[in-house]
Amino acid sequence: MNIGRLTLSDRAAQGVYEDLSGPEIDAILIREFADETPQITAHILEDDQTVITAALIRLADEENCDLVITTGGTGPGKRDVTPEATRAVVEKELPGFGEMMRVESFTKVPTAILSRSIAGIRGKTLIINLPGNPKAIGECLPLLVPAIRECLKHLNE
Ligand code: MTE
Repeated sequence: MNIGRLTLSDRAAQGVYEDLSGPEIDAILIREFADETPQITAHILEDDQTVITAALIRLADEENCDLVITTGGTGPGKRDVTPEATRAVVEKELPGFGEMMRVESFTKVPTAILSRSIAGIRGKTLIINLPGNPKAIGECLPLLVPAIRECLKHLNE
């Protein structure tokens, strides 16, 4: 299973702080998809829509990723453009992923509804935005696994 993982944060890309979300995602994917021998290609990028769009296209079209997970840049801030970059490259949106994460996280933190995460399909690649908070990743990503598996099955039919 080919997986692309993008950490989207100006500060993490500049080394101002350590990326904790990316490694959290990698650990969960390696555990949850152990049966599929996951190979993860990871990048840390600045919050720039053109840069993010290009990276998503490369991971989907050239590196043939089955799954691309992004973290960060989903909030209301001026530099938060991950949903816009994702929407620009997907052919079909899958609103359930974002809806479920917002509902699930809202039961824990009322600010969870500030995440604008989306998900969608480009070719045979499923792209999912996760929020930037490592705790949110631990709470949300494991719950998405059954739907990720089912979606990838449909994309490869
Ligand atoms: N979801 C969970 N489970 N826990 C959180 O702390 N933070 C929220 C939201 N979702 C949060 C969460 C906040 S404050 C914001 S601004 C958004 O995610 C967007 O975060 P991002 O811009 O790092 O993607």
